[in-house]
Amino acid sequence: MSENIMSPSIEPSLRKRLEALAVLDQRLGIKKKFISDSNRVNLMSKQIGDIYFDFSKTHISPELINIYSEFSDQIEFAKKRTDLFSGERINITEDRSVLHTLLRDPTNQGIDMRRPETLEQAQSSANQLLEQYAAITKELDARSTQVTDIIHVGIGGSALGPQLITEALSDVGGDITVHFIGNIDAHQLVAVLSACRVTSTLVIGVSKTFTTAETLQNINSIADWFAKHGEMNPLQNFYAVTAAPDNAVAYGIPEKNVVSFPQWVGGRYSVWSSVSLSAALVFGMDRFQEFLAGAASMDQHFYQTKPSENVCFLAAMLDHYYDNFMGASSKAIFAYDYRLRSLVDYLQQLETESNGKDRQVDGSPVDQETSPVVWGGVGTDVQHSVFQMLHQGTSLIPAEFILTLRADHEYPEHHLELLANGLAQTAALLAGQSLDEVKELHATEGLTDLAAKAKIFAGDKPSTTILLQRLNPTTLGALLAFYEHRTFCGGLFANINSYDQMGVELGKRLAKQLKPTIDPNAANVADGAKDAFDPSTQALITRVNDR
Ligand code: F6P
Repeated sequence: MSENIMSPSIEPSLRKRLEALAVLDQRLGIKKKFISDSNRVNLMSKQIGDIYFDFSKTHISPELINIYSEFSDQIEFAKKRTDLFSGERINITEDRSVLHTLLRDPTNQGIDMRRPETLEQAQSSANQLLEQYAAITKELDARSTQVTDIIHVGIGGSALGPQLITEALSDVGGDITVHFIGNIDAHQLVAVLSACRVTSTLVIGVSKTFTTAETLQNINSIADWFAKHGEMNPLQNFYAVTAAPDNAVAYGIPEKNVVSFPQWVGGRYSVWSSVSLSAALVFGMDRFQEFLAGAASMDQHFYQTKPSENVCFLAAMLDHYYDNFMGASSKAIFAYDYRLRSLVDYLQQLETESNGKDRQVDGSPVDQETSPVVWGGVGTDVQHSVFQMLHQGTSLIPAEFILTLRADHEYPEHHLELLANGLAQTAALLAGQSLDEVKELHATEGLTDLAAKAKIFAGDKPSTTILLQRLNPTTLGALLAFYEHRTFCGGLFANINSYDQMGVELGKRLAKQLKPTIDPNAANVADGAKDAFDPSTQALITRVNDR
């Protein structure tokens, strides 16, 4: 029997208005909006600190903003935003506060804290990070052999953020290289270990729970590698970052080498915590503090600003409108800055692990789309791979372009070309190219009718452009906080809990159950263990066992 929707997440009258608006938007497109309002660019763009957000090349309109402002009242947006910042236990299924914002500004911007103990916890966590950072740097200075490599062992939220910020904020050719090992596939491990030497490598195991199978197995194998190269008791020199310090100590990491962070920091929101210790060791604690301050400035904007002016809300509104009313089921993010090459991976986890859910907060099934597929890549590479589909494909794919106005290298010609390409792509998506234009452009070439038609671009494809004055700790912090708050708004629109991740559990449990059925050394595998699986999986197990 199918379950009942207890109450619709969007009031029927608002839903109807959005459906009607979408019909109109599909018919009229975006270009006409510029013609009917000469002030559109000003109205539909915002400058927040050193970041400029241009939403004008999307279907955004005053009418759309009005409807979502009403929607924000319906869902008590302002109250729920206060709940987030003030430590209400909004992660209801795990009964936890969601206070990563407190790590960026332990004073919490003067917002009343409903759980005052969290202020102390945030301060203690920040202090621990500073102390451990100072202790490690001192130890590194005192070592007879210079540390050239850090192996950061962690997966998902315990790696994606640190990897992104290390790539984005480290100077090229610095003294220390950080290697990230997350996957259980030891091809990654082998590649990293072959680039390191035991005498000059520091290991930091990062896991919120310190129970994640991949991370524990990888730390184990790295310890074996140290032992094989003559290092006695290697775990004694390893560090751990975790919200479960007891687990790390029980694993064998000395207590003095364990730095902890509070449970109310979600894994995919933990880049602001000691999880980023390895990154800070590479680019310095000052830069890390600037990164936090940048995020805090976006928090300020998000907290203080009404929906119609709030960039996080407006971006989430467009995600929701496209996903639910315009028929888009994915969105693409293109960073025109090589240093942001891991941004899409980071945002995939942030957005889809947060909002890829099918239950409302009251436990009933959702009655709408909750999260588009997030994909993308780095410009200009993507122009030579997926952009064909973006320009002439049949799916509606809202695209987001992130460009950095000033580069930090000395090849101005490259940067000019990069910017020209990024901007031109947004213009091309909007403008399109009609058959008449094709004919005029190729008038002297004698194009066949077929070739001419293949050169038609429908245009009116939505894109948002985000310009960073420069890529630095402050703008990166603000940018990531923007995406976090946008994700929060998306969760409110869909009436879901953005802060648990139960969807990863079933696969983990079945992997544990399946492993003995393919393990030649497993003792006491229950008769019929294989039969617990479906026929396809059973046949696959047989093939694996026949290998
Ligand atoms: O499998 C999903 C997940 O729980 C993520 O949410 C988390 O970021 C990742 O695993 C790693 O977990 P941990 O930090 O506890 O090792």
